[in-house]
Amino acid sequence: MPIVNPDYAISAVADVDAVPEILAFYEKHRTKGVRKVNYDEVKKLVEDGLFYVARSTEDDSIVATVYVSEQKNATGTLEHEIGGGLVGEEHRSAGLSKCLGVCAIAAQRLATPRDKDSNDAMPTLIARVECSNKAPIRQALRALGFKRKRVRKIKDKPGLDDMQKDADGNVCVEEFEFDDAKLEQRLADALSYRDDGVLTTHPVRKTVRIDVHALNPNAFGDPLRDP
Ligand SMILES: CC(C)(COP(=O)(O)OP(=O)(O)OC[C@H]1O[C@@H](n2cnc3c(N)ncnc32)[C@H](O)[C@@H]1OP(=O)(O)O)[C@@H](O)C(=O)NCCC(=O)NCCS
Repeated sequence: MPIVNPDYAISAVADVDAVPEILAFYEKHRTKGVRKVNYDEVKKLVEDGLFYVARSTEDDSIVATVYVSEQKNATGTLEHEIGGGLVGEEHRSAGLSKCLGVCAIAAQRLATPRDKDSNDAMPTLIARVECSNKAPIRQALRALGFKRKRVRKIKDKPGLDDMQKDADGNVCVEEFEFDDAKLEQRLADALSYRDDGVLTTHPVRKTVRIDVHALNPNAFGDPLRDP
């Protein structure tokens, strides 16, 4: 039964007109732990259907964000990165990052075409945390089913300006990978958000309406396509 009068609504941003609002949200809640994104990057993510926001149903303002981007890793293999996770201070610990993560994982994992040359493997879904970031992001990633795999130094990525760097200009990041054994649980979570809309009951009950349909096509493909 769809939830009536939820506290939040989750959607994949469909209109590039919302890009300035997204950038204003990042600016307002600016934190060193979140890589800076620019207009063109966010516009591309929105056009690709890969930028997710939570809005307060009180005033329709953006209160939380996450996106999925595509890149090649150090060995030239395609990987997807979940990033840009930011929740407005007054909305934290209500389960919003978990819910956004669940929606992004479900949409990405259901839409990504399997690679016929690699035993139907899907590109690895990774997340990176700047080593000195004190936010509870590691707990949030573990709650989603990510495992910490390695520590890396990165340099050649835009938006690292505010992050702590070593003498060679490298940013230290902890790299996490999504454990696909947890996919079924995340899909069950997505259905539970959709059906009962409960984000948290502690300390107060917060609810959510899911306007992301994991079966909508996005840049990774169309989950209803012919095999
Ligand atoms: C990290 C961040 C995104 C978490 O968002 P959130 O909506 O408050 O997290 P959730 O409420 O969805 O909680 C997700 C998990 O993290 C854990 N968690 C959340 N806040 C926590 C806290 N203060 N202490 C310990 N664990 C915490 C929860 O227990 C939950 O796990 P569970 O479902 O197993 O109980 C948020 O704190 C934030 O925006 N921080 C600043 C920006 C940042 O550094 N982002 C990460 C960039 S890599």
